[in-house]
Amino acid sequence: MKKALITGGNGNIGRLLSERLIAKNIEVIRFDIPGSEPAKHDALETIVTGDVRDVELLTDIFETQKPDAVYHLASLLSGSSEADMDAAWEINATASFNLLKLSKAHDVGMFFFASTLASYGENIPSPMPEDQPQWPENIYGVTKIAVERLGNYFKASHGLDFRCLRFPLVISPYAPPSAVTAFPSHAFKAAVNGQSFTFPVTPETDVSTLFLLDVINSIMSFTFAEKEQVKQPAYNVHAYYLSAQIVADQISKEYPEFKYSFEPQDYVQALLGGWPGETVDHNARADWGWKPEYDFEQSAQWMFEFFKQ
Ligand SMILES: NC(=O)c1ccc[n+]([C@@H]2O[C@H](COP(=O)([O-])OP(=O)(O)OC[C@H]3O[C@@H](n4cnc5c(N)ncnc54)[C@H](O)[C@@H]3O)[C@@H](O)[C@H]2O)c1
Repeated sequence: MKKALITGGNGNIGRLLSERLIAKNIEVIRFDIPGSEPAKHDALETIVTGDVRDVELLTDIFETQKPDAVYHLASLLSGSSEADMDAAWEINATASFNLLKLSKAHDVGMFFFASTLASYGENIPSPMPEDQPQWPENIYGVTKIAVERLGNYFKASHGLDFRCLRFPLVISPYAPPSAVTAFPSHAFKAAVNGQSFTFPVTPETDVSTLFLLDVINSIMSFTFAEKEQVKQPAYNVHAYYLSAQIVADQISKEYPEFKYSFEPQDYVQALLGGWPGETVDHNARADWGWKPEYDFEQSAQWMFEFFKQ
């Protein structure tokens, strides 16, 4: 890999992924919507702004920049997808189809796609087995599974090296306030700032979770794995189990004065209430050596330190 195109390159995951690729001396094209652009900070980095729905612009990027790998992260997330299902389909599904076609046409060597546990649906068993059927009841999950299936088609019928990871809930210091399902991240920030916090779910709502740096670790190790190690187009990854009460208790250990309450919001509860607390990820561990580095306590300490600074 010499040059990678990262769509959604200025997001939570995209900005850290860009740093990690550059550290391996790989040129990066960070593509994201106008207004989201950070200062260009590395000679190996090119910032391009535009909409992932703009096929002409993307064609121009493939023709002039000639990326040999694509990390496709641009997406509306769960809340904004539900708020505008037409935009969700255009941005998450149609634009991904166009990007897959462009990648095939320009002989891209590897195409990575970020999917989600929200692609499984409601009331799934915990631990969730690897062969759990995917029948999402939210539009975000529907668009993600559409791309998983398209990617499998491009891999099987057109030889594109499509690779996909399904992420659980992610603990991240960059989670925007609008990302309502990222309540653990918001609770850490509130505690460090001396504010109270209202959890938008019941205390026992439990979710499979991964720390942001492990998300980046998983993408790096998966996309640099040898082709023979990748035995299926999509893998689940999991680090630890969390409930809202476990988050509150962990914060209270560090900040005994932390005040919190639980006021479940229908939408957040509906989305997370059916998620598994644990996701079986044996295949990722066995096939390409996936192993998370951060447990919950380490993730919490990292978040406290980050917000203190
Ligand atoms: N963070 C999580 O909890 C999580 C969990 C599972 C899957 N994912 C997936 O990982 C990927 C990255 O997520 P993230 O946490 O970095 O989210 P993010 O919102 O920080 O990043 C997504 C980026 O996509 C960009 N984008 C949105 N619409 C666009 C458009 N029309 N054209 C171009 N760019 C556009 C946004 O500006 C943003 O920078 C997404 O595909 C998301 O669905 C994230």
